[in-house]
Formats: sequence, C-alpha cells, structure tokens
Amino acid sequence: RIPVIIDCDTGVDDALALLFAVRHPGLDLRAVTCVAGNTDVDGVVRNTLTVLERAGAPEIPVARGAARPLIEPARSARHVHGTDGMGDLGLPAPTRAPAEADAVTLLRREILASPSPVTLIPTAPLTNIALLLRTHPEVTRNIERIVFMGGAVACGNATPVAEFNVWHDPEAAAVLLTAGVPITMYGLDVFQRVVVPGARVRRLRESPDPGARLAGDLLSHRPASPGAGADPDAGGIGDAGAVCSVVDPAGLTTRPLPVEVSLAPGPTRGQTVVDRRPRPGEAEIHTGVRERALVDVALDVDVDRFVALYLDTVAGPRGP
Ligand code: BDR
Ligand code: CA
Repeated sequence: RIPVIIDCDTGVDDALALLFAVRHPGLDLRAVTCVAGNTDVDGVVRNTLTVLERAGAPEIPVARGAARPLIEPARSARHVHGTDGMGDLGLPAPTRAPAEADAVTLLRREILASPSPVTLIPTAPLTNIALLLRTHPEVTRNIERIVFMGGAVACGNATPVAEFNVWHDPEAAAVLLTAGVPITMYGLDVFQRVVVPGARVRRLRESPDPGARLAGDLLSHRPASPGAGADPDAGGIGDAGAVCSVVDPAGLTTRPLPVEVSLAPGPTRGQTVVDRRPRPGEAEIHTGVRERALVDVALDVDVDRFVALYLDTVAGPRGP
C-alpha cells in the first residue's frame, strides 16, 4: 500500500478526500494534519475528527497545525463551505481530541517513521508544509512526492487569476514549489471537472453505510461547478481528485513545466504562473532569469475514470 499523509482544511471536499483515502485498499493513510483555510483551524480539526469517526477510522492520528498563513491574516471560505466549514450538515462533535503533537511535529515523525517513502497530499493552504520543509528539511529524504491541490494553469476562484489554497498563503506555496522534491500540481483546471452525476449522488445518500451516506450528503452540498452543467444534484469531488491521482496516476495527464507564484501585492497575488511555452529555457538564457523548478502540472483528467474510482471506493467496504 502507498503510505500517504493528507494535510487539509476540512472543508466539504477535503472530507470527500478523507473518506476516499480511508476506504481505498491501495492507500495507507498514516496521519492527517490540519491547517486554517476553509474555516479556522479548530473547526478544521473538529471536522476532520468527525469525518474519520464516521468513516470508521478513529485511530488515524490527527494534529492541529497553523492557525493563519505565514504573513497574512486568516480568511475563511464560509460562503463556500458553510458556517462550520462542512456544509452545515449538523454532524456530531467528535468523541476524541487531536494528538498532543502539533502538525509539523506529527508530519516529521510520521514521514521519517514510514518504512517506505511517503506521498504527501496537501489539499489546503500550504502553511504547514512550508513550516515543515523549513524546520525539518531532512524529511525530504523519505518523501516520494508531494501531490497538492492548488493553483491553476488558466483560471482562478478566490480571485480572477488565483486559486484559493495558493492565494490564502502564497509565500507558503512558493516555499513548496522550490523545495526540490517531486511535485504534482492538481490545479483548478482539472479539480473543477470531476463531477459525480446527480443520480449517483442520490443513490449514495440512501446508502446504509454511514461513510457512503456522508459522501452523498457532502456531494449534494458542493456548489454547482462548471462541470455540473444542468444537473442540479451533481457534485464535484474536488480535493478527492488529487487523492484519486495518487492511486491512479494514469487518469491524469501531466507535463513538467516551470511554475512560479506571484507574490506581489495587487491583482495577481497568489496566481500560479505556469510557463507553457515550447522552449521556456531559451528566453531565460537571453534575459538572465534564474532557473525555475519543474512541476508536474495536471493538464487533463479522465473524468469518467476518476468518478468511477471514487464511487467504487466510497460505496465499497473499507480496505485492509
Ligand atoms: C480549494 O479551496 C478549498 O475551498 C477547497 O477545499 C479546495 O481545496 C479549491 O480552490
Ligand atoms: Ca481543501
């Protein structure tokens, strides 16, 4: 099984990602760390613990991380994820507390303790990950790859050009992109396309299995995305698509491209600038621009394949 750690801001679609990761037999979810994003960090911790309990995985360690971005104050996305950050579904409070260790400590411990290199899956602002990489750079020796949901090639949601996770903490995203580890950017361009048809969402909501039912309720809360078309009950799997791509990388088309984050104040702050020119290096030689790290940028996704993978997993029994 692939050892994975999810760093999240649960979050309706982060919850969908957790439900998938717990259930997929090919994944070994070793820990979940929380960061401020969709809601405040204590709300994220509470939501994460509740989801793991509902998914039948109360033993997975959960740690509280950064309460705000590196430089800016926290800004919530309650207008998207409800006042509790989880779609206001009226879920019960969790019955356990998070780990005593903070997120960075738990990340370091779990990464170094893993018998094989870990795939790290951030589905949130990258504050915890930046702090980890700066505080404990030795973790990179046991990181297989970082597959993060964030950024975009050609669109934005938090602003016309910036995706929420990168926009919320652009400096942290810049630290990640220059960390020197293999990175996959599962950006908004593919994120928005993986949508479960309404008929399947309705079936999930009637499932006798509590985890599957929660997935159905969460999907029905997902705001209409461009991929939903005219189907009112359809719901995007959002962050869960990044986890699907770890299980099934062939469902994603990626290309190694230079990516930089705009850190300047003003309308482009938080934009991921992806260089798709055929020979980007050439211009740099002439202009003296520094060398930029390559990121495997998701350019296309096999929507039917990921929808089927998601539904087969969350509607099926929990793996070993
Ligand atoms: C990202 O922002 C959050 O609101 C979602 O959970 C997702 O991680 C999309 O821009
Ligand atoms: Ca998220």
